[in-house]
Parts: sequence; C-alpha cells; structure tokens
Amino acid sequence: MPSRAPALRRLLGAVALLAAVPLAAQEPTPADTAAVTRQLEAGQQWFSSVCFECHADNVADADFKAKWNGRTAYDLFDRMRNTMPDSDPGSLTYETYLALTAYLMKLNGMPSGTTPLPSDSTALATVKLVFPSTLR
Ligand code: HEC
Repeated sequence: MPSRAPALRRLLGAVALLAAVPLAAQEPTPADTAAVTRQLEAGQQWFSSVCFECHADNVADADFKAKWNGRTAYDLFDRMRNTMPDSDPGSLTYETYLALTAYLMKLNGMPSGTTPLPSDSTALATVKLVFPSTLR
C-alpha cells in the first residue's frame, strides 16, 4: 500500500531519533569535582539536621552494608524518598534525596566519582552500590 509509505518513513525517523537519545547520554560527562563536593556537602548537612537523630550509627554499619551492597543507587534513593524521614516521608526535594544517597554511599566507604550522582533515574539505576568489605 503506497499510501502508507510516508507514515512508515515518519515512524522510522522517530525511531531513529529515539535511538539517538541514549547514545548522546552515553557520552562521558566532563569531570566536575566541585559539583561532587557540593552534592556531598548538601547530603551531609541534610543528614545531620534531619536524619542523624535516628541514624547516628545504623546506616553505615555491617548490617547496612550487607543489605545494600550490590543493589543500585536508585534502590537506596527510592527507599529513602518513599519512607524517610520517618515522620514525613517524601517531604524533601528530589535533589536532596539524591544528595543524601551520595552522602550515604560515601559514608559506607565508596569513593566518590568525578561527577555528581545523576538525577536521571535510569542513569541512577546503573550506579551499583559496592561497599568495601569491613572487618566488623
Ligand atoms: C524519627 C526517626 C527517623 C528519622 C528522622 C529518619 N529515619 Fe530513616 N529509618 C527510621 C527507622 C525506624 C527505619 C527502619 C524502619 C523502616 O524501615 O521504616 C529507618 C530506615 C532507614 C533506611 C533503611 C535502612 C536499612 O537498613 O535498610 C534508610 C536508608 C534511612 N532510614 C535513611 C534516612 C534518611 C536519609 C533520613 C533523613 C532524611 C531518615 N532516614 C530519617 C527512622 C528514622
């Protein structure tokens, strides 16, 4: 059916466009250690003002590491966003939960990268939590 050809071409064009998006996202992001530091500092500040009263020593211990090791940064982010702080889940901004995720990763001994944790949830789900083993 010749009348379908233009529609098919448009469809293929759209598919090609969609395929180009992930390719662009895979280009290495330039290092931005200042942004890494800003994210970690924000996470630390929020943690000490909102979370520390209940989590002084239980989000970087051996149990925590065993539970979260091998899962993704998105899993941890999502858990906090949906359930924390205990009294008012979801009350902080997306960026704040992201910063808290970065801070907890650091607290558990992960070296920080050269770029901040990405706010895109798909990209965040590719970041694996790998905590150095502990003797405790
Ligand atoms: C009033 C106390 C309280 C505050 C404040 C609080 N939490 Fe929690 N948090 C808990 C309790 C209790 C649990 C475990 C029970 C549960 O799953 O809800 C928990 C669980 C967690 C866990 C999962 C721990 C694990 O072993 O899997 C994380 C991560 C966490 N909290 C992060 C945070 C962060 C980040 C904040 C600050 C934004 C915060 N919490 C504020 C009480 C609190």
